[in-house]
Amino acid sequence: MQVLFILVNGKMKIVEKQKISFELTVYNSKEELLTDEESLMSYAVKAREDAYAPYSNFNVGAAILLENGEIVIGSNQENAAYPSGLCAERVAVFYAGAKYPGVAIKKIAVTAASENGKVETPVPPCGSCRQSLLEYENQQKEPIVLILMGENGKVMRCTSISDILPLAFNKSYLG
Ligand code: THU
Repeated sequence: MQVLFILVNGKMKIVEKQKISFELTVYNSKEELLTDEESLMSYAVKAREDAYAPYSNFNVGAAILLENGEIVIGSNQENAAYPSGLCAERVAVFYAGAKYPGVAIKKIAVTAASENGKVETPVPPCGSCRQSLLEYENQQKEPIVLILMGENGKVMRCTSISDILPLAFNKSYLG
């Protein structure tokens, strides 16, 4: 935190300046990951291949490793009424919550590929998926590792969902 003196409408004010940053790791390929994470990404790739995305042709797969060792997968499910579809990450995390209630999520791997051109870089989750994943992370009070990949190639690894959703809304604001 930094304390600054600034002029506002000709008057001197004291404000705080805050900086939010986080670290992530980038690997050249999924083969460089820990064995369990490489395997989790392979589950995500399989899930991606089963995505139902006839409208965007953008196929996303997610695989979740739970603390009980179970793996739960999800893929994006689209709909002719576009907003009725759901992202892969939320399909997976809601499935995990429904099938294994109260079982902590250790890691989630996500991969995306497009039929319209190669997805060369890791694809980060949309805002709604970040918010949904964060709900589970906050609930379990243990960070969820997030591993991201495009079709193949470089992989990004974040150690917590909270890192990628700074200033998040959470239940503490509900009073
Ligand atoms: N999609 C995901 O599955 N996850 C994301 O985080 C971003 C977007 C899906 C939703 C839709 O089916 C397609 O990708 C194009 O937006």
